[in-house]
Amino acid sequence: MAVMASIRNIVILTGAGISAESGIDTFRGGGGLWEQHRVEDVATPEAFARDPDLVLRFYDMRRAAIQTKEPNPAHTALARLDREWPGELLIVTQNVDDLHERGGARRVLHMHGEHLNAWCTACDRRHRWTAPLIARPPCPACGSSALRPDIVWFGEMPYRMDEIYGALRGADLFVSIGTSGAVYPAAGLVRNARELGAQTLELNLERSQGSAWFAETRLGPASELVPAWVEEVLGAG
Ligand code: OAD
Repeated sequence: MAVMASIRNIVILTGAGISAESGIDTFRGGGGLWEQHRVEDVATPEAFARDPDLVLRFYDMRRAAIQTKEPNPAHTALARLDREWPGELLIVTQNVDDLHERGGARRVLHMHGEHLNAWCTACDRRHRWTAPLIARPPCPACGSSALRPDIVWFGEMPYRMDEIYGALRGADLFVSIGTSGAVYPAAGLVRNARELGAQTLELNLERSQGSAWFAETRLGPASELVPAWVEEVLGAG
């Protein structure tokens, strides 16, 4: 981008595409998770009320699986940017894996929750959780057996939207990486960013539902596009 030198504050939105090369399934498209499971069966509060064992087993499997995966060069490049960027920076991720953190990033906000958290709906506390939930382990704080995956299901409100909009208000650049632009409110952030005067850049394997909203779209695998872009931004800063 020609005017990269004038950028100080950056908001980055990431989606499943940034973790695809680490071996974590994306949601949409051929072989995607939502082709193998119906959203209504495993990812809504109604599904959890109807068949909690099915839902807990689904997330137990996903929680176990992500612990066997490793960050890829896209995650480590964003971590480098986080370390070296002197201005404001926020990585807003829709991902519920911990690969941004394990890659070394610190300024990360999980708007759709985290696999490695359990949320007690009795006392409203959250706990770091790597084990299964299917046997209804007690909440370490209150002892109740009301722990659920700390995942934002369809029909629930994403987390920390005020912080996200606050960061967008100060952003000079909004970058979207590896997301299909199919799920709101995340998919609408690019429009908020534009209205607030930020430059917009999309890095994705293919054109997405949101591509038309970005000033620039670069197509390719995140493991190549993201390190190249980070090099460019740090070089220009
Ligand atoms: P999707 O599965 O909808 O989209 C993944 C995007 O990543 C697609 O546009 C792919 O083209 C792109 N992609 C795939 N491999 C890539 C690669 N190697 N490099 C770059 N891009 C690649 O995933 P999300 O947009 O993250 O919500 O989905 C949004 C939300 O829908 C998720 O957070 C989840 C899901 O339902 C919840 O679970 C609450």
